[in-house]
Amino acid sequence: MIYRAVRPLLFRLDAERAHHLSLRAIALAGAIPLVRDAMRRLFDVRDARLQTNICGLEFTNPIGLAAGYDKNGTAIAGLAGLGFGHLEMGTLTLHPQFGNALPRMHRVRECEGVINSLGFPNKGVDAFLAAAEPYFRDGQRGITGSRPILGINLGKGKDTPLEQAAQDYCELVRKVHSRADYIVINISSPNTPELRMLQTRAYISELLAAVISTRNEAPGDHRSPVFVKISPDLTDAELDDILVAVGATRIDGIIATNTTLERRGIPVGYAGLKGGLSGAPLRARSTELIRKVYTRTNGVLPIIGVGGIDSPQAALEKIRAGASLIQIYSGMVYRGPGLAHQINLGILKECQRLGVRGYTELVGTVKI
Ligand SMILES: Cc1cc2nc3c(=O)[nH]c(=O)nc-3n(C[C@H](O)[C@H](O)[C@H](O)COP(=O)(O)O)c2cc1C
Repeated sequence: MIYRAVRPLLFRLDAERAHHLSLRAIALAGAIPLVRDAMRRLFDVRDARLQTNICGLEFTNPIGLAAGYDKNGTAIAGLAGLGFGHLEMGTLTLHPQFGNALPRMHRVRECEGVINSLGFPNKGVDAFLAAAEPYFRDGQRGITGSRPILGINLGKGKDTPLEQAAQDYCELVRKVHSRADYIVINISSPNTPELRMLQTRAYISELLAAVISTRNEAPGDHRSPVFVKISPDLTDAELDDILVAVGATRIDGIIATNTTLERRGIPVGYAGLKGGLSGAPLRARSTELIRKVYTRTNGVLPIIGVGGIDSPQAALEKIRAGASLIQIYSGMVYRGPGLAHQINLGILKECQRLGVRGYTELVGTVKI
């Protein structure tokens, strides 16, 4: 209700500026303990039917915040009050970088889409670890079971040649491992030159093997699961190459999908904008890929589904296609910060209607 009133004002601003303002407001709310507690009371939905255990991590519900929303970890405490079961921070690179030229984020209002060409603007991994330290120190990590699970999404630097990309990722894994509940290897953003080449047969196996051995050699007992985030623009053959490498290196799961370079389904006036398209126009495409991954891996590989989720129905579509967890980004732009709460309530309603003991019974129930 409140967001419906605020949205026209936000939509008068440049999309990236509006995003920074929203994030700052969430950070501010999270910094005031009374407000933070009130948000949790308002947005948290606690019900055993929403809980799941993926790769040894206890999620209180299946809804997560997708990467890119809080790149530098400046609003974790506030975001933790919005009803999410997990939060994915980043994408982080080894060194700070500005990203691509402005303007680089556009709303496609006619179809509730977003086009962005940000190119991983972030303050670098060390600044993130410093900013997020209070969150770790407060014992608010998901590992404790009392707070959202915290994922950290990693990318290669803009100027790192492909041949040295594995070194970037391994160094990043070393730095974040003791802090991350799970780690994401992002090789699917369309806005870092050549990044998507890392998904191809020429690079993928070696890269994933290096990352997994770095994770396995990290000090301490804790072993963060490693997920790979993939593009919705893969051919079947490219997807197969990735799944072979994922199986051989024992990657823990797949995040499907990142944004698309396709422009089908959006007004022609936007087709020339550079960058990746997300939101409602991406929905069917990402669901299709989730279904393919689920089928090709016989449902044994955990999948986090993301792309165009803006309602309980859209969330359930991804779950039925094979996603064990889901994430949202563009839906928050159009529907506001209460979206995770609304989706959780909608999933519970569906569990009730079907008489199932938990939403996990619905995972992968609609095949190709
Ligand atoms: C403005 C913007 C920035 C994004 N930045 C990142 C990023 O840094 N890393 C990443 O893995 N995905 C990034 N994404 C992709 C989202 O995490 C998500 O995969 C994609 O937007 C599809 O979900 P959605 O339709 O719910 O937005 C970004 C998306 C948007 C709209």
